Amino acid sequence: MRKKVIAGNWKMNMLPNEAINFIEEFAPLVKDTKHEVILCVPYTNLFYCLLNIQGTNIKIGAQNMHWEESGAYTGEVSGQMLKSIGVEYVIIGHSERRQYFAETDETVNKKIKSALNVGLKPIVCVGETLEQREKGITEQVITNQVEKAFEGIETTDLEKIIIAYEPIWAIGTGKTATKEDANNTIMQIRKKLAEKYGQNEANGVIIQYGGSVKSSNAKELFEMSDIDGGLVGGASLKAEEFSKIVKFDE
Ligand code: 13P
Repeated sequence: MRKKVIAGNWKMNMLPNEAINFIEEFAPLVKDTKHEVILCVPYTNLFYCLLNIQGTNIKIGAQNMHWEESGAYTGEVSGQMLKSIGVEYVIIGHSERRQYFAETDETVNKKIKSALNVGLKPIVCVGETLEQREKGITEQVITNQVEKAFEGIETTDLEKIIIAYEPIWAIGTGKTATKEDANNTIMQIRKKLAEKYGQNEANGVIIQYGGSVKSSNAKELFEMSDIDGGLVGGASLKAEEFSKIVKFDE
């Protein structure tokens, strides 16, 4: 049985004092959950969050990293830097980074390898645009993204990686994929992994859904056979709302 993993992606939101207040309110609300809870926060909040989650069941992730360990890359942050302060997870290849910051399948692949090298757990995002969906090429686009992201990734690393299927047209729009659609696409991702790594290995991989998840739709989505939780944007910014998503089955 795969566990459910619910991750918040705060994107470019929350000042340190807001982050600290959030954790103070949120931690007691989710302390008894059996699901894994992750907050992926801006770089400037990482240290505050890491201090404030001590003694709780909340894990902290970053939202991006560079693939080199160090060097002349002004403005970048490496996986080693994240790891050194106690960060556990890192989002890689979010569609907003692919769209606005020239992230490609190749840089996604390099970042995944680099994250694994320093002991960070990548949350790898894939997803199709509305145009691709309307053309009926969703499966092709997604399996291609998965293939390129996982190039050269060993079977033994699979258990350290989370995949988030986030249809781009569903992000921040209030439109969610139907639970059947989301589940089907995630099954395609699993099938692709099975071809490469074997069915047993593929069955163990956590694959989340992301895109306008909120407390009112989390249960129906997360109870589907292949949806192993969610990567939540807007609705992860309010402690009470996000706690309801984490506790979708209570
Ligand atoms: P929303 O939940 O705001 O649609 O964002 C989803 C997302 O991009 C999470 O990474």
